Amino acid sequence: MLKEIKSQDYSVFIGDDVLQQVQSFLEEHAAQYTKFFILVDENTIEHCLPIVQFHVPFLKDAEIVEIESGEQNKCIEVVTQVWITLSEAEADRQALFVNLGGGVIGDMGGFIASTYKRGIDFINIPTTLLSQVDASVGGKLGIDLNGLKNQIGVFAYPKGVFILPSFLETLPKGQVRSGFAEVLKHALIRDQKHWDLVKKITLKKKIDFEDIIYWSVNIKNNIVLQDPREKGLRKLLNFGHTIGHAVETLSIDNLALSELMHGEAIAVGMIAELYLSQSLAGLSSQQAEEIESILVKLYQPTPLREDFFDAYLHLMMQDKKNDKGAINFTLLKAIGDGEVNYTANKKQIVAALKYYNSVIARA
Ligand SMILES: NC(=O)c1ccc[n+]([C@@H]2O[C@H](COP(=O)([O-])OP(=O)(O)OC[C@H]3O[C@@H](n4cnc5c(N)ncnc54)[C@H](O)[C@@H]3O)[C@@H](O)[C@H]2O)c1
Ligand SMILES: [Zn+2]
Repeated sequence: MLKEIKSQDYSVFIGDDVLQQVQSFLEEHAAQYTKFFILVDENTIEHCLPIVQFHVPFLKDAEIVEIESGEQNKCIEVVTQVWITLSEAEADRQALFVNLGGGVIGDMGGFIASTYKRGIDFINIPTTLLSQVDASVGGKLGIDLNGLKNQIGVFAYPKGVFILPSFLETLPKGQVRSGFAEVLKHALIRDQKHWDLVKKITLKKKIDFEDIIYWSVNIKNNIVLQDPREKGLRKLLNFGHTIGHAVETLSIDNLALSELMHGEAIAVGMIAELYLSQSLAGLSSQQAEEIESILVKLYQPTPLREDFFDAYLHLMMQDKKNDKGAINFTLLKAIGDGEVNYTANKKQIVAALKYYNSVIARA
């Protein structure tokens, strides 16, 4: 059964027959659109586009715009290339842009659409777990600049988001596991019942993602609807990310370290931030241990090198989540009960990094 989540002024649809919903949407708006463009990369053109075009006859003759996959291509040069393609194809204000891919396609394609001719309509068909549960609501669009993530961008909303869970069948396992960290995070900050469900998932067997995605998008959607411009509550979504971002960034920048995927780094960040959650927010040690055991089993993280602790701190100081020198954290008071706006000093953060290492050593 098709599930619907209402966000800003659009809906997120989830289900096995979601592509029929895309077709109905296009039929309904047929008079409005003159031309269709589908943004893909080399993986989604192979694994996802044929399925979309089979089930959505309206998109059979759409113009396919292919870019190269990868975060390094989420940049202004590629945006310019696509703007030129649109312009040469004489796309007018009545063109519809379809983003078929992961978060890179969604963020950049949405940015391209919302700036071309001051904005044309776009819809998203997210094809990775991360883009389905995280990037599908909230309206954040954009690109990277000089290695700084999401430095340029806008808030704008698609006309619809259509999630087909079976796209995950071709997604590499590591990508599924990485996206799953956000599923766990959503449950931890807001929904104990959902945690009790997702904590049992080992990702070893084939699983039915439909309900998991639905719950997870719902949690994020409830948060972003209350705080569309990230003034307060939306910071809840930063749990695990203050330390996790620093860990991710250094793993990419420093060749002595092996590169971590976003979700792997966030798993590290969540474990370290459980120390602060216990010392500053009153999380019980019993609940912390439960969360740690799940994260360690799934992500099998490795220790953080103490000689890089200063580098991690330096990165956290630069992080945009900082207010006036103190480092800002979102922590857990209990499972399902996150709270924003805690601050920690360097000494406390070092203790959190050491705590992480001791958790890993025990496992
Ligand atoms: N806007 C937001 O709120 C938001 C939230 C979270 C993340 N993001 C952004 O999302 C990006 C990361 O997204 P991602 O993890 O989806 O990465 P991605 O878009 O790079 O996709 C990961 C890889 O999977 C491939 N792929 C996609 N779908 C596939 C499928 N069904 N089968 C096989 N391969 C497939 C892609 O080609 C790519 O190689 C980052 O740039 C991040 O900033 C945005
Ligand atoms: Zn994240």
